[in-house]
Amino acid sequence: MFERLLGDGSDYGLHITYAEQPSPDGLAQAFTIGRDFIGDDSVCLVLGDNIFHGAGFEPMLTRAVEHAERDKRATVFGYWVNDPERYGVVEFDTDGRCLSIEEKPEHPKSNFAVVGLYFYPNRVVDVASHIQPSARGEYEITTVNQHFLSDGELTVQTLPRGFAWLDTGTHDSLAEASIYVEVLEKRQGLKIACLEGIAYRRGWISRERMIELARPMLKNQYGQYLMKVIDEIDRTNLNNLQ
Ligand code: G1P
Repeated sequence: MFERLLGDGSDYGLHITYAEQPSPDGLAQAFTIGRDFIGDDSVCLVLGDNIFHGAGFEPMLTRAVEHAERDKRATVFGYWVNDPERYGVVEFDTDGRCLSIEEKPEHPKSNFAVVGLYFYPNRVVDVASHIQPSARGEYEITTVNQHFLSDGELTVQTLPRGFAWLDTGTHDSLAEASIYVEVLEKRQGLKIACLEGIAYRRGWISRERMIELARPMLKNQYGQYLMKVIDEIDRTNLNNLQ
């Protein structure tokens, strides 16, 4: 389904390849299944059922990339939730340093859940290939994070209040996330994560390509929105020229 939706990524100026996990044996397998794709690079893992939305996200991501590339440190993100026992949970000391991470603890040591977005230096491939499965029979990403933590190479960045981290792994949470997106999109008339729009603004696809993508969709709202993005950028460019 993802492949049908996103194809080879060229509509967004990206190059996307796919690998399948034959059975759901844990997130850490991403690094062994994806070993060739990763090669010598540092790497980001993001879970397909997690939604992130909020101001200041981009600089946080840039910092996490720098930590991985330059400092060879891993970065994970903590987010205050009401039901931490459903997630990986971070414990902090009074200076905000991470003391422990536990997967779905019965008695969580804090309300900070580890979200499904992880940045690692290349060493993660080696770490992930040496871990043992947990009691629930999965290669846990939390075990990987515990390795980086005990080696003193883990940064835990908290996401601020007002930031939205939504999980869409159950029918209820998927419905709730759709309502969140619908409310914001309707109120502002701006789409959240319109991939073509992002690619065009970034200069990854040309104006001609953007029009080509919008053309077959002009009778629906999405195609009309893409045309609006083109108009808006044309106007900004014109203003900049004047
Ligand atoms: C996984 C991770 C967990 C993390 C969560 C975020 O949980 O194991 O540490 O907090 O994703 O969505 P799972 O989806 O396997 O229950």
